[in-house]
Amino acid sequence: TDPLRLGIAGLGTVGAGVVKIIQRRAELLARRGGRPVVITAVSARSRDRDRGVKLDAYDWEDDPVALARRPDVDVLVELIGGSDGPAKAATEAAIAAGKDVVTANKAMLAHHGQALAEAAESAGVVLRFEAAVAGGIPVVKALSEGLAGNEVRRVLGVMNGTCNYILTRMEHGGLSYDAVFEEARRLGYLEADPTLDVGGIDAGHKLALLASIAYGTQVAFDAVQIEGIERISIRDIEAARDMGFRIKLLGVAQMTAAGLEQRMSPCLVPATSPLGQLEAATNMVVLEGDAVGQIVLQGAGAGEGPTASAVLSDILDIARGTRLSTFGQPATTLVPPRPAPATAP
Ligand code: HSE
Repeated sequence: TDPLRLGIAGLGTVGAGVVKIIQRRAELLARRGGRPVVITAVSARSRDRDRGVKLDAYDWEDDPVALARRPDVDVLVELIGGSDGPAKAATEAAIAAGKDVVTANKAMLAHHGQALAEAAESAGVVLRFEAAVAGGIPVVKALSEGLAGNEVRRVLGVMNGTCNYILTRMEHGGLSYDAVFEEARRLGYLEADPTLDVGGIDAGHKLALLASIAYGTQVAFDAVQIEGIERISIRDIEAARDMGFRIKLLGVAQMTAAGLEQRMSPCLVPATSPLGQLEAATNMVVLEGDAVGQIVLQGAGAGEGPTASAVLSDILDIARGTRLSTFGQPATTLVPPRPAPATAP
């Protein structure tokens, strides 16, 4: 059987993780995918950086768009990141050239997912993004496949590990927001632009993607009501604890009489609930379907292994020949975000 030939664009933590799994688990992947999964070419900003992985067996492309257009590449694996720029250019080039795309890029999909999904549909190619939401937790699959026979009642969860780390460290260590923010920076948890994390934007991107899958709607990031954790103080956390609650940056998507409502904001959750017990830099997603009831998924929402694990699940689906597309098309009424509350005196 013909191998599935990958072009990997972006060799940061996740890209290097994907290469490692493909090198170490070639036999297992071939068995599970029904054919060999091979890397033809790779692309990244710097050729010389040591990534702890051997790359000399692959062709090198400086330009991810050129990588995406190569005739010997069947699937573009886009791990560059960023909502626009080279990630989007390479994705568009791959789709136009009739290639499937696997991406971990939540920002790109939150802003351009609808246009990219439509382009992919007209080109007859598949656009997959398991790694874009909650890292290693297979929540895209759980929603789109596992709950396919359900009417989704609600999707909620903690979708940014960094914020959960900051909030739990403030609770346990009695440390100020600023002190824990610095700690998170030292540990390398924060995105290059930390506002994406603490401003709730990264988590909002993920919620918009899950909502679109759950309700078959367009990705509507602009309609997500977003409030970050920057204004949470130790006093807020202690007051919550005294009442038996914890503060979590919680995303909720649900269909209401007024339309699809999407919110990402600091919320009180009962300390004894699964969400209330979530510690450290982890994620938890709760799915509620009319037939299945409630499902709780918990795990690592970031990091090399977990995110690469999700990328591989999409790659193997394509190797097996799945043509499943997860984005919905029909427009729906969206509940617009309310104006931000006035700053407390
Ligand atoms: N900054 C994100 C987080 C990384 O902390 O969850 C994964 O998207």
